Amino acid sequence: MSEFQGKVVIVTGGAKGIGKGICEAFAEEGAQVLCADVDTQAGEQLAASRPNIRFMHGDVSQSAVCQSLVETAVGTWQGVDILCNNVGIQPTTSYVRAHELTEGQWDRIINTNLKSRFLMAKYCIPVMQKRGGGVIISTASVQGLQSAPQVSAYAASKGGDLSLMRQLALDYAEDNIRVLAINPGAIDTPLVQEALDAESGDQEEARRQMAEMHPVNRIGQPADIAQAVLFLASSKASFMTGSYVNVDGGLMAKGAWA
Ligand SMILES: NC(=O)c1ccc[n+]([C@@H]2O[C@H](COP(=O)([O-])OP(=O)(O)OC[C@H]3O[C@@H](n4cnc5c(N)ncnc54)[C@H](O)[C@@H]3O)[C@@H](O)[C@H]2O)c1
Repeated sequence: MSEFQGKVVIVTGGAKGIGKGICEAFAEEGAQVLCADVDTQAGEQLAASRPNIRFMHGDVSQSAVCQSLVETAVGTWQGVDILCNNVGIQPTTSYVRAHELTEGQWDRIINTNLKSRFLMAKYCIPVMQKRGGGVIISTASVQGLQSAPQVSAYAASKGGDLSLMRQLALDYAEDNIRVLAINPGAIDTPLVQEALDAESGDQEEARRQMAEMHPVNRIGQPADIAQAVLFLASSKASFMTGSYVNVDGGLMAKGAWA
C-alpha cells in the first residue's frame, strides 16, 4: 500500500498545468487531495475525474481564502499532511523592464507567487504541528537561481520563494515539518503555451528552441515535476529539508542558460 494512502494534500493552483499533475499523482497514490484554483471549470473537471480530488474555488493570494482552504481540509479529513505551494503566474504583459512594470502587476505577481506561500504555510503549520509533522513543497523555478531579461517581479517572487523555504525549514524542523522546493525548467503547461503564443514569428520554431535549451532536448511534462514532488513528500526523503531539487532537464548544469 502506498504511504500516501489517506494522507491529506492541499495543492494551490491545482486545476491546470503542474498543479494538476501533482493532484493526479497524489490521487493515484490514494491521498485525499484538495485542489484550490481560480479556474472553476478546470477545477471541477479535474475533481470529476477522481473521487479523491476535491475542488475549491479561490484566489490564494487572499488570506481568507487560504484560511478557509485549511479549515475545509481539517473539517473534512481532520488535518493536513502535505502542502504543495504550487500556484504561480507570469502574465505575458509583465515581460517589461522594471521601470515599465506597473505597481499593480508587481503586487499581483508577488502576492500570487510569494505571499500565497506564506499565507498557506501560516494556516497549515499549526495543523501540521498538532498532527506531529508534515511536508511543505514549493514549485519555485530555475528563475530563482538565475535570471532572464524583463521578469523582475517573477524573478523576485521565485528568489523569495526559495529563501522563505529555507527559512521555514529552520523554524519547523523541531516540529517534524520538512520544507522543500522544486525548480522546474520549461514544462509544457498553459503558462508556457501563453508565453509561446505571445512570441511573434514561428511558434513551432520557438518551441523547438525552448526544448533545445535543455540538455535533454525536450520540454518537461507536469508528471516530471509531480514524480519529484512525490519523492520529496515521501519518507524516502526524510533527511531532506531546507533545500531544492532542479527538475530541469540539465538546464542549470549549463551554468548559464543564455
Ligand atoms: N511551466 C513552467 O515552465 C514552469 C517553470 C518553472 C516554474 N514554474 C512554476 O510552476 C508553478 C505552476 O506553473 P504552471 O506552468 O503549471 O502554470 P499554469 O498557468 O499552467 O497553471 C497555474 C494554475 O494556477 C491557477 N491560478 C492562477 N492564479 C491563481 C490564484 N491567485 N489563486 C489560485 N489559483 C490560481 C491557474 O488558474 C492555473 O490553473 C508556478 O509557480 C510557476 O511559476 C513553471
